Amino acid sequence: MSFNLPSGEAAAPRPLPRHVAVIMDGNGRWAQKRLLSRIFGHEKGAEAVRAIVRSCRELGIPFLTLYAFSTENWQRPQAEISALMGLLRRFVETERAELTQNNVRLHVIGCIERLPEDLQAALRGLMAETAAHSALQLNLALSYGGRDEIARAARAIALAVRAGRLDPESVGEETVAAHLDTRGMPDPDMLIRTGGDMRISNFLLWQLAYSEIFVTPTLWPDFGRESFLQIVHEFQLRERRFGRV
Ligand code: IPE
Ligand code: IPE
Ligand code: MG
Repeated sequence: MSFNLPSGEAAAPRPLPRHVAVIMDGNGRWAQKRLLSRIFGHEKGAEAVRAIVRSCRELGIPFLTLYAFSTENWQRPQAEISALMGLLRRFVETERAELTQNNVRLHVIGCIERLPEDLQAALRGLMAETAAHSALQLNLALSYGGRDEIARAARAIALAVRAGRLDPESVGEETVAAHLDTRGMPDPDMLIRTGGDMRISNFLLWQLAYSEIFVTPTLWPDFGRESFLQIVHEFQLRERRFGRV
């Protein structure tokens, strides 16, 4: 599959994104449409994760960040939260071999300390196991909120100033970026939201400053390789100006 523009159109094909961020929304609606429980939708959604990870590997996209559980999602019914935590435990088990064999590095952003301890341990184990992998970095945003992340960064900066390790006059955008969970990573070139809602829902508030946004009505469990390739193609047709002319 080629992502070059068809011949005859504007000359240079735009580069592939280096970092794709995804708000995986619509699991509940997918299930409800089928008169199934929301939890079944989350199970289907977990399967869709495998397809998008594979597609990123196929295209050679080096960073993928998936919004899997927000700070606000803690307000859902306890049964749904437990089911989601169970699916995450299962994800660590079932995807271990695939991530390892495909040179994928797992990383978690968000407040991992709020997750159940056994899940934290499983995630930390897989992060350590895959730490040297370099083809794709898969960031799972878990108990993640953009405001929480910025507040944690501000706290870390304040503590560094108080400890005399940081000159407050020197604090700039790079300082803030270097204290976020995404330190060292490029900002997302594109944001995909499935499920049709036109909002960011507290995802990567700092990092999305200049991301190209794509909202698709497709519900997350139905979002597969073809939908992903189509959106990446649309990305390559967009003109990014970054405030210039
Ligand atoms: C997204 O699907 C998955 C999580 C937030 C964990 P939803 O559960 O939000 O599905 P809808 O939006 O209700 O359809
Ligand atoms: C965003 O979806 C969070 C995740 C996909 C993990 P939500 O369903 O929680 O967001 P809202 O409530 O529609 O804003
Ligand atoms: Mg939702």
